[in-house]
Amino acid sequence: MPHFPKPAPGSWTEHYAELGTAGISYDDCVSPEFYSAEQEAIFRRAWLNVGRVEDLARTGSYFTKELEVARTSIIVVRDREGRVRAFHNVCRHRGNKLVWNDFPREETSGTCRQFTCKYHAWRYDLDGSLAFVQQEDEFFDLDKADYGLMPVHCEVWAGFVFVNLAEEPEQSLRDYLGPMITPLEGYPFERMTDQYVFSANVDCNWKVFLDAFQEYYHVPVLHSQEATPAARPKIKGFEAPHYQIDGPHRMVTTNGAPRRTWPAEFQYPIEIATRSGLFGPWNEPELGPDLPVNPGGVDKWGMDNYQIFPNTEILMWASGWYLTYTYWPTSHNTHRFEGRLYFPPARTASDRAAQECAVVMFKEFALQDAGTLTGTQQGLEARAVGHNFPLNDQEILVRHFHKAVADRVADYERTKTGV
Ligand code: FES
Ligand SMILES: [Fe+2]
Repeated sequence: MPHFPKPAPGSWTEHYAELGTAGISYDDCVSPEFYSAEQEAIFRRAWLNVGRVEDLARTGSYFTKELEVARTSIIVVRDREGRVRAFHNVCRHRGNKLVWNDFPREETSGTCRQFTCKYHAWRYDLDGSLAFVQQEDEFFDLDKADYGLMPVHCEVWAGFVFVNLAEEPEQSLRDYLGPMITPLEGYPFERMTDQYVFSANVDCNWKVFLDAFQEYYHVPVLHSQEATPAARPKIKGFEAPHYQIDGPHRMVTTNGAPRRTWPAEFQYPIEIATRSGLFGPWNEPELGPDLPVNPGGVDKWGMDNYQIFPNTEILMWASGWYLTYTYWPTSHNTHRFEGRLYFPPARTASDRAAQECAVVMFKEFALQDAGTLTGTQQGLEARAVGHNFPLNDQEILVRHFHKAVADRVADYERTKTGV
């Protein structure tokens, strides 16, 4: 992986001159009109990560994904040729939602040979073609070949399944991901098959929560309990050592010595008991040489956090596991947050306990982040402050993210008006 030079200390933002250093506006997080523009300009045009290939292990494995932001639901399925496909979750007869379980608005998953509509029992093959129409001869000139499920563009990169709701995507998935993200395909994501999934409905704009995971300025304050009282002075003034930006995508690296090397008074008892904690299990798996990590070449590499525009983050940890976050808007001031943690398979009960400890710690710290968000949204909606929220150098990715969103919305508005 190419290494990028570290600019002079304290100058990350100035290194990317197009970002400027002025305060930013948070109108993009409180305006219903701006949210409508994002729905069209971003979520109906960008590649969106909806899951992993491990979620589609066999022929006929499928899951549904509710995409409220695009006012649709999709089915993602592995067909008989092994290809991963996506379709709008809509029956071609009279528009019934095709795949759901007990509640139409809830996501579901499973394995099947065909999809059968609950209304009049039309059936669709795994490739979306219409296979069976009840009392077909009562219809008028109905050619089943004309009534397959409506396809959604779907591509797989490094085992991550992406969809694109545009009629014709502007770029292939690989071109969209670009030179900063694509080298990650050398990481052994496919070996990390023990998966823990969480989701939460959060009362804030999707960007407000994303901002909380792209700067570490807040860590010593909001997450002071991350460190034991003895270790707390150590995390004071914590700073990330490397940032990188490519197109609409971003990344940040943090460092941290392996937790197992820390003195005992810097560990909580549960960490010592399970040999695990917030940064993952201490017994790192052997993942092989030349992993595509640490592009800044920092000392004591701890973690890379990649943010794939618009709403996916992948965090790869030195302790040999990774997690993803996705933020699905449900309105201008609400969203659904999904966290997934992936580990190499546990071989022993101790491995499993170590995973569980990392997961519980993750939930605790994510809750600390989430706990501030309703208050932030409320503060922003007061519109008391105007347009000048000052960002420091460690908040460079916050600055870049809001600019990337604004640029895309402005581009779209320009194409629409032809100006
Ligand atoms: S709406 Fe699906 S079969 Fe009638
Ligand atoms: Fe945090």
